[in-house]
Parts: sequence; structure tokens; C-alpha cells
Amino acid sequence: MRVLLTGGAGFIGSHIALLLLQKGYDVVILDSFVNSSSKVTKAISNYLLTKSFNFNLNTITGDIRDKNLLEKIFNDSIIDNKPIQTVIHLAGLKSVSESLTNPLHYWDVNVCGAKNLIATMNEYKCYSIVFSSSATIYGLTDSVPIDENHQLSPINPYGRTKVAIENMFCDLYKSNMNSWKICSLRYFNPVGAHPSGMIGEDPIGIPSNLFPYISQVAVGRRDSLKVFGDDWDTDDGSGVRDYIHIMDLSEGHIKAIDFLNSKESCFEFINLGSGNGYSVFQIINQFELSTGMKIPFSIQKRRDGDVAKCFADIKKAKKLLGWVPKRSLEQICNDSWNWQRRNPHGYK
Ligand code: NAD
Ligand code: UFG
Repeated sequence: MRVLLTGGAGFIGSHIALLLLQKGYDVVILDSFVNSSSKVTKAISNYLLTKSFNFNLNTITGDIRDKNLLEKIFNDSIIDNKPIQTVIHLAGLKSVSESLTNPLHYWDVNVCGAKNLIATMNEYKCYSIVFSSSATIYGLTDSVPIDENHQLSPINPYGRTKVAIENMFCDLYKSNMNSWKICSLRYFNPVGAHPSGMIGEDPIGIPSNLFPYISQVAVGRRDSLKVFGDDWDTDDGSGVRDYIHIMDLSEGHIKAIDFLNSKESCFEFINLGSGNGYSVFQIINQFELSTGMKIPFSIQKRRDGDVAKCFADIKKAKKLLGWVPKRSLEQICNDSWNWQRRNPHGYK
């Protein structure tokens, strides 16, 4: 079965691509590489070659807003006699701060890009899509755990583009309820790396998220971690989040495809998280254990737009997808560190 994986060279996409290939899917990655390295697909192939795997991976460099290119990809697949049966749509921009300074660009790439993609799918009668949504759409809430019925009130343009895309899917589904199979996965905090240490997260510039930042402190690229507030209403005063191992998250996508394949039609939004909350200080502790190093840090004022606690209710994922996250915080930190120490400068 052929899957189109948009944004497949990115952090999340690269791990999903590897898993899909291991499961025997034929994978077409479409990525503009605006936020990823051209070395990613080589790393995926190298890993599979070391395991003597036969695989079928095709990487196309291009933009999801290029409708002619999308049409060519669908058309070529039909000519190949391997029509694209499912799309996993991850391509998009994800920086909250950049979305505040350049909102129209975010609406263009994320919303117009998604519209272009689903319009092309419609034309080629490919009606099955898994979409990467985000817990950011729940906005500023301390009411945890957060389930899928929680109200949506994103506080930044990035989050609003995710809600707009979910709404677009909803309208599309209602217009043709017999055909479309849509699963919007709302990720909490995907972290960690493939256990081989051959693929992982490689942000461009100074990381804004905790895991890549702390990894770069451990490997000596940054002096010290800034802890954004120790006066939150949590057990130890630091912010609590739901960190999910990237391999658990990737497995959730395979389950989502199986789920869509088992349906005549459907539209579901489903949280993917670990269901547990860990504080920044707990992460520092575990990271010190995993690396055997002291992580220097300083306490700073709270970051704008942060909440005290955010973690998922994952009952729906368990029930509908039969998916449960299996990896512990220890494994997350071990795998993050394994990737970072083997690749101190990422893919460079
Ligand atoms: P990423 O930036 O590593 O991956 C996104 C990929 O999309 C990159 O390879 C980038 O080059 C590509 N891309 C961007 N614009 C494109 C365009 N116009 N056409 C084609 N390709 C384009 O990000 P990620 O962390 O892997 O996130 C993947 C998806 O998951 C994103 O949609 C993101 O919003 C969503 N998400 C991520 C997180 C997270 O914490 N990482 C949380 C929730 C949701
Ligand atoms: N933190 C620090 N220091 C840092 C970075 C983060 O103390 O250098 C703290 C934050 O204050 C927060 C926790 O670590 O308490 C996690 O912060 P991240 O930036 O790693 O993650 P967020 O939960 O804030 O946000 C991430 C993405 C969002 C997405 C959200 C839910 O950045 O885009 O997860 O998916 F919406």
C-alpha cells in the first residue's frame, strides 16, 4: 500500500517514514526541506540497509502549495499502478513565535497547503488522511487531563491554523460522508529519538523546546538551561507537560491507518500523549541520570503563553485505535541522549 507522507523529512515524519517502511508500506515523502535536512532520507535508508530490509522510498522535494506537483505525484502513482491510498499530512510550520510575527505565512503554508492537498486528494479519489494536529488548540487551560471534548481556544496563529484545518476537514466530511476517512491526531509533546541513534530531532537555530535544548546543554553546545518559572501551581513549581516518545507517537500513526482501513468513512480527532505529566525538574533529574552529567540551569521568569500543567486523556486513542504508549520517561531521555551524543550537530 502506497502512503504519501508530507513533511516526511521532519522530526516526526522521519520516524513515521522509517516505521512505515519497516511495516512494508511503499512511502512517498513530499518535503520542501525548509525545516529539515536533505540527509534525513539517507539516514532512514542507511538504517534499513544495515538491517538488510527491502524497502520502497521515494523522496520528492517540493511544496504542498504547488498544486501541479501534487497532481503529478497522484498521477504518477496511478501510472505506476500503485495509487496513493492514504496520506499522512505533517508538512507545515510549527513555531509559535514565528506565527505571531508572520501570521499570514502560517495561514498560507498550513491552511492553504492543507486545502490544496485535500482538493487534489478529492480529484484523485483518495479519501483517507491522517493529520497532525496539536494540543496547542486547547489553549490556556489547567483542567487536566485534557480530553478531546475540551473546548478549543488556541492563543496563537499557529494553533488557530490547526483549528481551521480541523474545521475544513469537518466541512469536507459532512459534504461527502460516504467516502472520507479522516483522523486528526492531536499530539502533546513528541520527544526522544529512534533507539538506533541514527535519526532524531535536529532543530534549526536555538531550540525553543525543552528536550532539544537540554540535549544541547548536555552535549556542550549550550551553557545552561533556562527554567521558565519555579512558581507554578505544581508539586515542585516547574511546568508540567505530557512527553510522548516519538516511537510511540509513530506507532499511533500506523494504528490510525489500520483504523481508517477498517472504516467505510469516519472523522475522528484523537489525542496522542503519554497520559502522564512530568515537570521540568523531573526531566532535568532523569536527564542527569541518563547522561551521567550535571545539567546546569537557572530559574527565569515564566514564559508568555505557558500554562502550569498540560497532559492528555488518552482513553479515546486506546479505545478507537487500540494504541497504548509503551516507553517510559527513562527511555525517552536515554534515546534523546543517544541521538545527541552520536550526532552532536544533528545531521550536519
Ligand atoms: P518539522 O518542522 O520537523 O517537520 C515539518 C516538515 O514539513 C519539515 O521537514 C519541513 O521542511 C516540511 N515543510 C514545511 N513547510 C512545507 C511546505 N510548504 N511544503 C512541503 N513541506 C513543508 O516539524 P515536526 O515536529 O516534525 O512536526 C510535524 C507536524 O506535526 C507539523 O505539522 C506540526 O505542526 C505538528 N506538531 C508537532 C508538534 C511538536 O512538538 N513537534 C506538536 C504538535 C503538532
Ligand atoms: N521550558 C523551559 N525551558 C526551555 C524550554 C521549555 O523551562 O528552554 C519549559 C516550558 O516552560 C514548559 C516545558 O518546559 O513548562 C515544556 O516546554 P516546550 O517548549 O518543550 O513545550 P510546550 O508544551 O510549551 O509546547 C510544545 C510545542 C507547541 C505545542 C505543544 C503541545 O512547542 O507548539 O507542545 O503540542 F503546541
